[in-house]
Amino acid sequence: MATETTTQVRATRAASAPVALRTLGLTKRYGERLAVDHLDLEIRQGEVFGFLGPNGAGKTTTIRMALGLIRPTDGSVQVLGRDVASDRAEILPKVGALVEQPALYLYLSGRDNLRAIANTLGGVSERRIDEVLELVALKGRDDDRVKTYSLGMKQRLGVAMALLHDPDLLILDEPANGLDPAGIVEMRDLLRQLAAQGKTVFVSSHVLTEVRQICDRVAILSKGKLVTVADIDTLVGSHGAFRVTFEPGRATEALAAAKRQPWGASARLEADGVLVVTAPDGHGRELNLFLVNAGFAPETIAPYSEDLEAVFLRLTGESSGDTSR
Ligand SMILES: Nc1ncnc2c1ncn2[C@@H]1O[C@H](COP(=O)(O)OP(=O)(O)O)[C@@H](O)[C@H]1O
Ligand SMILES: [Mg+2]
Repeated sequence: MATETTTQVRATRAASAPVALRTLGLTKRYGERLAVDHLDLEIRQGEVFGFLGPNGAGKTTTIRMALGLIRPTDGSVQVLGRDVASDRAEILPKVGALVEQPALYLYLSGRDNLRAIANTLGGVSERRIDEVLELVALKGRDDDRVKTYSLGMKQRLGVAMALLHDPDLLILDEPANGLDPAGIVEMRDLLRQLAAQGKTVFVSSHVLTEVRQICDRVAILSKGKLVTVADIDTLVGSHGAFRVTFEPGRATEALAAAKRQPWGASARLEADGVLVVTAPDGHGRELNLFLVNAGFAPETIAPYSEDLEAVFLRLTGESSGDTSR
């Protein structure tokens, strides 16, 4: 609950904040293929923004253009109010990025990897290195060689590198990709902490569950096109629906009972015999009372929410082609 409130406060504050990242008709064509197709996005300072889409949707291509690593075929990107194509040198010191895997010296320690970056950046103190090591939870392992790190630790070291010069805007391309569940939780905690420090975070993923607990808003990209931009709660929210389980064999009868109600017309069973039903006026308590009175005391009742695959099907009418966790 506390995080929800924080998210809302942050979202409200962000609505009037200056724009951190804006794409205007951003387009990238590779031969016949439109990798990014007239993308219009606006991310405000202080937002934690999720950039979601299946593999091949155009996320990395968009991020590369936002960082000025490749040139758009058409359109433009503004970072902190300046055009990336013309003002890249002024913009880059204010941006930290991790695109795909970080480039690490495996035979150096984590700390020495950071020192190497600090040397090329200039003006980064040893104290700042300590700070970022603390932030990404690598204190204690910082003197070990990177080759002994887990994938999650390497990814966090990559984020530490992106943070060294204390950027206002962080752009992270699938930072949780390939991590095990524990690594994903650690990455999520880290991004949450960055958000709490007031950083603007733009994070891409092909897995909705990775970003849903940290992002205020998400954009969904499919085949280079923007499908939707929405508050995460709106996107995967329960929409007044609940998932109800019963003792074995009772779900079918409960479904029939619910369907006879004016509010229950859209009720259905999920494959595993779980009832998904909209509650009267959206109130779980009312649904619970109805079911109990009708003789179907639920085992469990919980707000219904969709995974990315289901959101995709609903919004685009086609599969994302991805298995979301
Ligand atoms: N350098 C390139 N040359 C040709 N096609 C590319 C290149 N980079 C990406 N693409 C294509 O552009 C599309 C978007 O790719 P990408 O941005 O990597 O997607 P995502 O990061 O969402 O997985 C894909 O169809 C990919 O094959
Ligand atoms: Mg990618």
